[in-house]
Amino acid sequence: MKYTEFGLVNTSTMFKNAIQGNYAIPAFNFYNMETLSAILSAAREMQSPVILAVSESALKYMGPDMLMGLIHGANIKPSEQIALHLDHGGSFEACRTAIELGFSSVMIDASKLPFNENAELCKQVVDFAHNHNVSVEGELGVLSGIEDENTQSEFSSYTNPDDVEKFVHATNIDSLAIAIGTSHGAYKRKSENEQLRFDILDEVARRLPDFPLVLHGASSIPQNLIETINKFGGKMSNARGIDTTQLRTATMKNVCKINVDSDLRLAMTAAIRQTMFEKPENFNPRDYLGAARKLMIQTASDEITNIMGSNNKL
Ligand code: G3H
Ligand code: 13P
Ligand code: ZN
Repeated sequence: MKYTEFGLVNTSTMFKNAIQGNYAIPAFNFYNMETLSAILSAAREMQSPVILAVSESALKYMGPDMLMGLIHGANIKPSEQIALHLDHGGSFEACRTAIELGFSSVMIDASKLPFNENAELCKQVVDFAHNHNVSVEGELGVLSGIEDENTQSEFSSYTNPDDVEKFVHATNIDSLAIAIGTSHGAYKRKSENEQLRFDILDEVARRLPDFPLVLHGASSIPQNLIETINKFGGKMSNARGIDTTQLRTATMKNVCKINVDSDLRLAMTAAIRQTMFEKPENFNPRDYLGAARKLMIQTASDEITNIMGSNNKL
């Protein structure tokens, strides 16, 4: 089905506005009704555009019909500026399937391939996607950490600014994910002093003026959530995320999409652990999942306001 039938939009207008307005569009990952409804509630309450991100493994987990049924049930209107995005698409086939289901944006993640193969695959996806008016995100540079249920990179390499113009011109992509020191998962920085490589970001932005840049692995890992998880039986010592002030700075420099998955996973886990601990006799999932949804709404709303700066931008 065509994404417009679900009230979705592609990312072109939202990115243009975000670059001009020095803020970023939040891309939150979802994988069930609670995560989807929490993200939508936060975006709607905050009057923020939003990207609903679905990894290949999340798509498989929900099943394509259930997933698109949830999107249909969300009653999305084009004026709400909501995109449905395939996160870390691993192949042309994965991107095509998503587009045919009704996604309005896809990422083709071929950054582990040599430059020319990455560009070639991106171009193939762009040719198909643009025919359907769907946006495409490519990536240069490799992030460390767990990327999806099947892929884990132990090494990382920063984006080389010398590559970016050639890549964007060769592929005609709509946005570019870059590696400047963020990483996937809950264990990112080894110390509070670790800084993102703003020198790389500045150089990329200089070479690609007004071009939309994307940060993956950008969860801030709120320490209050880690404390709650550990207090109620979890084991997540040394979990540390990206500094919120540095993320906000990045939004001033052409970063117009910030990907967050881990922070909402933490909110859900913290609320469920606490509710189960405090009410050991309770076995009603709507109670602990309801608490989880509430804490996810609070976490997403807080990040929309204090990190993305995308509140009141509709
Ligand atoms: O960056 C990727 C996301 O965190 C997706 O993770 O494949 O476990 O849904 P997942
Ligand atoms: P986090 O693990 O930092 O939330 O990153 C999510 C992400 O990049 C999804 O593509
Ligand atoms: Zn990612």
